[in-house]
Amino acid sequence: MQLTINGTRRDLPDDAVDPDMPLLWALRDVLNLTGTKFGCGVSACGACTVHVDGQARRSCVTPLSAVAGKSVRTIEGLAPAGGLHALQKAWLAHQAPQCGYCQSGMLMAAAALLEHTPKPTDADIDAAITNLCRCGSYPRVRAAIHAAAAELHGSKP
Ligand code: FES
Ligand code: FES
Repeated sequence: MQLTINGTRRDLPDDAVDPDMPLLWALRDVLNLTGTKFGCGVSACGACTVHVDGQARRSCVTPLSAVAGKSVRTIEGLAPAGGLHALQKAWLAHQAPQCGYCQSGMLMAAAALLEHTPKPTDADIDAAITNLCRCGSYPRVRAAIHAAAAELHGSKP
């Protein structure tokens, strides 16, 4: 099976994968892209969030068969070459991560939000970012999203 991951065509050996295998398993265990995290396995926490054709998707419940021929982006592909994504800079400035476990999923959910809603309101953020964080980083995540939106698209609405 072939997948496009972070802009690169990747071969998955047929003896290592099954069409029903969750995308998360293939990313972590076959392709060694371990930035995407396993949290709950039942689409509840968002730790496994990636983009599929630009949409945030929970990879723990997304079978490989559903992403064949589509473009998958993981946290390893978020930053531009040689730099950081505006969200990553804002995450650092606002000290958003605590233990950090949920944060790659948070960042990918936030990146998908900004691609579709360049200047999100608090309500937009709360509606789109349903990821769970047991460290309670929600206020800092929200502030960082506003800061990144301002850097990318101008001031807060
Ligand atoms: S691990 Fe996928 S939603 Fe929790
Ligand atoms: S930063 Fe620890 S779970 Fe979110």
